[in-house]
Amino acid sequence: MTVRVATQEDSAVIYRLLCDFATSYQPERAIFDHRTFPRVLKAAADGAAELLVAELNGTVVGYVLAARLPTLFAGGTVLDILELTVDAAHRGHGMGSLLVHAVITRAEQADDVEVTVPTRRAAGFYSRLGFTETATYLKYAPGRAAVHR
Ligand SMILES: CC(C)(COP(=O)(O)OP(=O)(O)OC[C@H]1O[C@@H](n2cnc3c(N)ncnc32)[C@H](O)[C@@H]1OP(=O)(O)O)[C@@H](O)C(=O)NCCC(=O)NCCS
Repeated sequence: MTVRVATQEDSAVIYRLLCDFATSYQPERAIFDHRTFPRVLKAAADGAAELLVAELNGTVVGYVLAARLPTLFAGGTVLDILELTVDAAHRGHGMGSLLVHAVITRAEQADDVEVTVPTRRAAGFYSRLGFTETATYLKYAPGRAAVHR
């Protein structure tokens, strides 16, 4: 098992993993290919994001995407894990933990103050890795959300 930085060549397998991961949004291949994936690769190249893949015998079986956010309150950058998924057939063998440890290592190297993660489905998984609960995460989707008064 190894973790490495993702490249353009990983786009097809990352898209497949994303389709299994996404619950709130339905991924669209054209938007992924022409807008979101190139933008994420550029952010990663600029140090504004981390996009890492986990490989087993040369096959990519998971990925993690984290965004590096400048803050005032923390006195530095915060690395926020936005997407983490491991192929269902390969779960339970340490791949997810390996990806999170790789993110933590990248955070240490970049002098990030915190690694954070909003999650509904996997709080227990992150607790085991030393994460503690800190805030309620709310979201508003411009152009999509109905306004309730
Ligand atoms: C969460 C996920 C990435 C973990 O990947 P994985 O490769 O199975 O992780 P590991 O093998 O390192 O698991 C470590 C431990 O965490 C546990 N665990 C896995 N998912 C968990 C969850 N959702 N809640 C609580 N514990 C969990 C495992 O049972 C395992 O425990 P064990 O060592 O006692 O067997 C994977 O289950 C997944 O892709 N889930 C769907 C997407 C998702 O929920 N992503 C996280 C939201 S950001």
